[in-house]
Formats: sequence, C-alpha cells, structure tokens
Amino acid sequence: MPQDRKLRLGAFMRPVSIHSAWWRYPGAWPDANFSLPHLVHLAETLERGLFDAFFMADHQALLNMPMSALQRSATVSSFEPLTLLPALAMVTRHLGLIATASTTYNEPYHVARRFASLDHLSGGRAGWNLVTSANPHEALNFGREEHLEHHQRYRRAREFFDVVTGLWDSWADDAFLRDQVSGRFFDPDRLHTLDHRGEWFKVKGPLNVARPIQGWPVIVQAGSSEDGRQIAAETAEAVFTAQSEIGQARAFYADVKGRMQVLGRDPDHLKILPGAFVVTGATAAEARAKKAKLDSLVHPDSGLASLSVLLGTEVSGFDLDGPLPEIPESNASKSARLRLIRRAREESLTVRQLAQIVGGSYGTLEFVGTPAEIAGGMEEWLMTGACDGFNVMFPWLPGGLEEFVDQVVPELQRRGLFRTKYEGTTLRENLGLPRPENRFFPKA
Ligand SMILES: Cc1cc2nc3c(=O)[nH]c(=O)nc-3n(C[C@H](O)[C@H](O)[C@H](O)COP(=O)(O)O)c2cc1C
Repeated sequence: MPQDRKLRLGAFMRPVSIHSAWWRYPGAWPDANFSLPHLVHLAETLERGLFDAFFMADHQALLNMPMSALQRSATVSSFEPLTLLPALAMVTRHLGLIATASTTYNEPYHVARRFASLDHLSGGRAGWNLVTSANPHEALNFGREEHLEHHQRYRRAREFFDVVTGLWDSWADDAFLRDQVSGRFFDPDRLHTLDHRGEWFKVKGPLNVARPIQGWPVIVQAGSSEDGRQIAAETAEAVFTAQSEIGQARAFYADVKGRMQVLGRDPDHLKILPGAFVVTGATAAEARAKKAKLDSLVHPDSGLASLSVLLGTEVSGFDLDGPLPEIPESNASKSARLRLIRRAREESLTVRQLAQIVGGSYGTLEFVGTPAEIAGGMEEWLMTGACDGFNVMFPWLPGGLEEFVDQVVPELQRRGLFRTKYEGTTLRENLGLPRPENRFFPKA
C-alpha cells in the first residue's frame, strides 16, 4: 500500500446517528434528524472538517419493528433525501451530497432526473447510493403484498443502473448552443434517444436535464452479499459496507477489487468505506464512559427490534439469556444476518447481549478512545488493505460530530492521513475518481 494514502471520510447522516438512543444523550438535539437549521449546522461542521460527503440513507416506510420499539426511534420522521440535499447545497461549497434511492421502488427516469438536477444545483457534488431496499415494508407502500425476492431485486437494480446512466448520457457536454441569432437552442446531432427495452424497463428517453457536471453523479452501493459484491464490482465507485472485524474487511476488500480486475476496471476507481462508530475522549476511560452512558440509554425493546430487523427473523420469542438459535435464510439483508450470527458464535453472546449491541451501534465497527488511538486504528485499516476510508457514524449530535471534527481530524492531518484542503470542486475530484466518458458521444 502506498504510504501517502489518504483516508476518504463520509458522514452517515440519515438518521443523524445509527445509535437508537442518540437523541436521549445529555446535550443532544433530539430533533436533529428533522430540523433544517440543525442539519445546516451539521453540514457546515462536516465541511469545516473537510469531509468528502454527507450521506443520507433512506427507507420509503417506517422501520419494520413493533410499536414498543418504534415509539422510541428517532428515525420515524425525516426529510426525503433529494428534497433536503439541494437545501444543504446552498449552504456548502465542497461537501459531497450522497442520497439513497431504491432501484426496487422507483422508476429510472425519476432517479436520473433528480440526481442530474442535484448535481447541477450543487456544482458537481451529487452521489447516488443505489440500494435494492432492505426494508420489506416498503413493498406495502408501492402496491405490493410481498417484498421483491432478493436476487430479483439485484437483477432489476443492474438494469436500472444501465437505464439511469444511459439517460445521463443523453446530451453531449457541448449540446447546448443557446444561439440567440440563429434561434437554435441546442444541436440535435448532440442528443441521443436511449430507446431502452429490457426485462424490467422500457424507457424511450432522452432525459430532459443536461448531462450532469460530473458526467455521472458518483455511484455508491451498500450491499455485501454475493449479488451485492458483483453489482458493486460492475457499477460502483464507492461502497458502504458493515464490517466489524479487520480480517473479514480485508477479505471483502480483496474480493470486490479482485472482481473489478476480472472486469477490466481499475480497482482505484472504487473507494471501500466501512461504517465506523466513533466515540472520542481526552482519555480512553473517558471515551469508554461516554459510550457506556449512551448504551445504557438503549431500551431492551429497541435492541430486540433492531436485531429482528437485521436478522430478518423475530427474536422476541427466543430464550433471551440463551445462545442465538439457528436463524433461517430470509428475503432480508443477507450480509447483516451472516455478520451477526458469526459475531454471536465467536463471542458466545446471548440473544439479550447481541440485542443490546445492535440496539447501540448496529454491531458495526467501533473506534472508542483518544484521538491518537482512533487515528492509529484507522491508519491500520487503511494501510493494511481493509478500507479506503470510513463512513463515520456519530454517537450523538451535535457533540459527537463536533468532537470528531475538532479533535480527530487534526490528529489524522498531523499524521498525513487526511487532506488539509479539498483537492477539487466536485465530489469526483475530491475522491480521485475519473469523469465517465459519454458512451454516445465519446471524446474524439
Ligand atoms: C452503510 C450502509 C447504508 C445503507 N443504507 C441503506 C439505505 O439507505 N436504504 C436501504 O434500503 N438499505 C440500506 N442499506 C442496506 C443495503 O442496501 C443492503 O440491503 C444490505 O447491505 C444488505 O445487502 P445484501 O443483501 O446484498 O447483503 C445500507 C447498508 C449499509 C451497510
């Protein structure tokens, strides 16, 4: 690994914290997930910390959990990502703006139009987190009784990607003449009609938005199953993944980048960003005390419900003080189920203990310690082929984010692991990604 490698940092910002009890922590803004002034402050603070991107996860339904847990969840009311991010584009200049849009419960033309618009409005800072929808309840909001089957979801997603990127390539970069003398607004020879006919979609095109500033908004992906890894290798430029153990993370990294080489793609054109839950303190003991205080606020119902969601199986009827029973395959997330089963076995966790962990930071990677310890941990992952950076999850807002920017970022910069100024003006330039060529109007 080249020694001058730099970390790429995304911020997991919808929900503003993955921790189910973040909003109860002393000093937290309980409404931070649904207050524009608060979200503006958080975005400005991320830009002050030179973060690559503000990332919004998204579900098109309330989380699929019982009311005993849902009533304790701050995720139940959030802005729709492509409605909030243009507003944040107005108060930031460098921060990338990544929104999630499902390929299972959306139409390609809508998605192409919205992300192209965000890219123009933000001066080239848009990113699309392409997911197949982890939440089965979304199906009920789109006229379906059942969630589309896992493999079918990825087949639809693969074609969806081709249609959206084909629509983004409708106009050549120089198509618009705006010639007031001749009266020609654009050159018809610089416009392509897609006329896509596939297994899932029939889309004539062209798109009624000029080609995005970045060519394409940055393509992000968040699945880690076999299908998830393959679509990432074929399409993604950044991958969000849940990894809690460095050996597993290195294997995932080598697997996905290896697939890219087989496909003839440059492995550097994909940034793998595991989620990292970070709690910092002046001493390691202080950081651990903060984390313990936060975890003590997790209600058992929240933990059990979050565990059931991630396993795709209702656990409340299990012997909570016994080991995790056999968990059947389901139509839910495949990688999350495997990761939690492995952790429960390796650490001999009871159902109650696993639920408490998941109710907190979702059982994902944690860095809890002084800024020097956190930077050291991140350096090991970066320099040993486990990641290209992290999708940082903050323990509570605004304090957890401000402490990261004011204490951890300077330590990462002091070690030469993180930028001291933005490299460019677009998200692609800051991530070191090339601008995709237009397949219908290749440069001569
Ligand atoms: C960091 C991260 C963010 C995610 N964001 C979303 C999201 O916004 N919406 C969603 O439906 N699924 C989201 N997912 C879930 C993934 O889309 C996917 O369903 C999950 O990782 C399981 O994929 P797999 O079945 O391919 O393993 C996210 C996953 C991760 C790791």
